[in-house]
Amino acid sequence: MILNDKTQNNHTKNDEIKEFAIQSRRYLGAKTKLLPLIEDVINDSIKEWHSFTDLFGGTGVVGNRFNQPGKELIINDLLYSNIHSYNTFFSPEPFERDKIINLLHSYNERKVHDDNYFSNNYGDKYFTLENARKIGYVRENMEELQQKGYLSNREFSILFTSLLYALDKAANTVGHYEAYRKKLDMYNPVRFLMPAIADNETNRLNKIYQCDANELVREIKTDILYIDTPYNSRQYVDSYHLLENLAMWDKPELEGVAKKMSSEVRQYGKSKYCLKTAPEAFDDLVQHARAKLIVVSYSNMAEKGDGRSNAKISDVEMISSLEKRGKTISYEQDYKHFTTGLKDIENYQERLFVCHVGK
Ligand SMILES: C[S@@+](CC[C@H](N)C(=O)[O-])C[C@H]1O[C@@H](n2cnc3c(N)ncnc32)[C@H](O)[C@@H]1O
Repeated sequence: MILNDKTQNNHTKNDEIKEFAIQSRRYLGAKTKLLPLIEDVINDSIKEWHSFTDLFGGTGVVGNRFNQPGKELIINDLLYSNIHSYNTFFSPEPFERDKIINLLHSYNERKVHDDNYFSNNYGDKYFTLENARKIGYVRENMEELQQKGYLSNREFSILFTSLLYALDKAANTVGHYEAYRKKLDMYNPVRFLMPAIADNETNRLNKIYQCDANELVREIKTDILYIDTPYNSRQYVDSYHLLENLAMWDKPELEGVAKKMSSEVRQYGKSKYCLKTAPEAFDDLVQHARAKLIVVSYSNMAEKGDGRSNAKISDVEMISSLEKRGKTISYEQDYKHFTTGLKDIENYQERLFVCHVGK
């Protein structure tokens, strides 16, 4: 186990390690490119605010943009792997930076020759065998260190997030884990970097949840509620099953060519927003929101329909739910706003709906 490893003592706090930013990760529906629009629209729509909620956080890039000293960020998702990322970037819990840096160095230097749960299942598929052995070894080491009380919850999450971002760069996939590419040609070695973490003052008021959004919305009060649900029938827990398996580390038997956990195990992450009943779930969410401004991102890559990639909620349904709460304005990517002529939006990929509650 790495804790008493000689390599660890060779590093000092001056031995820096490269940092990575929260947006340097592939994730379906991540709003990285839309951030300037989201920020402009929100700044124009509300003058003063104290609390921002990212209810379907995903990577957390939107929440991150509104994470500021003296403000409260509430961030939520169903997936364990995302929660580790939020604990890393947004938690106010202190952590020992030198301890993390030393461990990351030792992980980078470690050569792993033996097979383990991760390499047996995913080696030569999603990752080279060499990378898969290292990932499995490191994850097991983190588990042991946490069980021995050497790592706080936040420190564990920081190491996990470093692993999450490292393996995204080494995965033989198109960015999700529904399938791996037949030809294994992703040879980048997994490389552990340090997350670029805001200071504790910036994170002081933040709150992190792993709840169903419709339940959480009944519990919280916020100024700006940002809603970015899944758009189609692709369940995130299925697309990111491998990351979830790595986060939970119960080492279950895996099924099929894609090596997924059983569907019973994946049940916790199934979203109503991927089902036919999504419009009702959305309406329930919006009617129970206690916010001054509700901001919704929704893609119009495909018309509403029953196909796997068809949108689950139509524009008319979305706007009629929002209009019940207040004046609603739609924005398109190049930030011209329009209030009529829904057919005008057919060619745009991403829209924002902004509802001024009570107005
Ligand atoms: C479109 S993605 C959000 C992307 C995010 N805005 C970003 O920029 O990375 C939708 C997210 O909602 C989560 N999710 C789906 N259904 C949920 C629910 N009922 N409650 C909470 N989170 C949910 C998924 O796990 C997924 O991470």
